[in-house]
Amino acid sequence: MPPQKIIIDTDPGIDDSMAIFFALNSPELEVIGLTAVFGNVHVDLAVTNALRLLEIAGRTDIPVAEGAANPLAGTYTNPPTFIHGDDGQGNIHLPPPTTTAITQTAAEFIVEQIMSAPGEITLVPIGPLTNIALALRLEPRIAQNVKQVVLMGGNALVPGNATPAAEANIHDDPEAADVVFGADWSVTMVGLDVTTKASMTEQHLQRYAQSSSPMAQHIARINPLYHDFSKRVNGVSGLLVHDSTAIAYLLMPDAFTVKQWPIRVETQGFSRGKTWPYLRPNPNAVAWHNRSAVNVCTGIDSARTIELELNRVAPP
Ligand code: BDR
Ligand code: CA
Repeated sequence: MPPQKIIIDTDPGIDDSMAIFFALNSPELEVIGLTAVFGNVHVDLAVTNALRLLEIAGRTDIPVAEGAANPLAGTYTNPPTFIHGDDGQGNIHLPPPTTTAITQTAAEFIVEQIMSAPGEITLVPIGPLTNIALALRLEPRIAQNVKQVVLMGGNALVPGNATPAAEANIHDDPEAADVVFGADWSVTMVGLDVTTKASMTEQHLQRYAQSSSPMAQHIARINPLYHDFSKRVNGVSGLLVHDSTAIAYLLMPDAFTVKQWPIRVETQGFSRGKTWPYLRPNPNAVAWHNRSAVNVCTGIDSARTIELELNRVAPP
């Protein structure tokens, strides 16, 4: 089987970096581009970090396109530097990259790639969904021509992490998320329902430090800040590998339990960014009617997915 072609839309970010390296080390996947979006950092830094990560991986052949600086509505102001660092890479402050982004925008790149290879490209958004909504706006026919969308974001049956209601990627741009969940294409939501069960322990993390791979060494350098945050917030040791879980789904879908529910995203009030599943038929729930079902991951065999990630990125 030829490798599955993917575009990772990302705001790197510590767990984004882990996910990107996981994908680059998986022969079942061919990463044909990284598209950058605001989120864990402002978009210019997201581009810089994407370029740096590809250099570390020895994959500067992969293009990086710059995307949205702001959500569809409003201005982005507050990157979570207390989780990912001022530099989005755990405050290790790498030297500037030696390469630059392509001149196409993220939306233009996504549209061009999908329309030139109908049915072949999988989109893997692991940040706010702004670039994906903009690509749909630019060329609505990508919905019929993409292979599938597998995204990290949302919370169906569990609380949020950005607020009690909402998960961070969706909370950063709920309007864009509602467009993406509402388009007529195959979307799989790898959200907090499963990623909060995908925790790497101290012992797991040591395997990065023990590996001689430059990618593993980079992860070992950047994860202490994120790990400290996790310990403070969750009160236990362990690091949630949110974004890597979307990559794990592509490689090992049988490790997941999946339900089919249409999703609406709340765009108002204190529940802004909450992803609401349509759990059972209800004639009064008109906001969900005529929406395609989303594949919502609700269960995971995280021992398997985490072992796969470590074997790929941190070989002994
Ligand atoms: C998501 O938010 C970001 O901070 C992470 O990179 C991940 O994509 C988890 O809610
Ligand atoms: Ca992310």
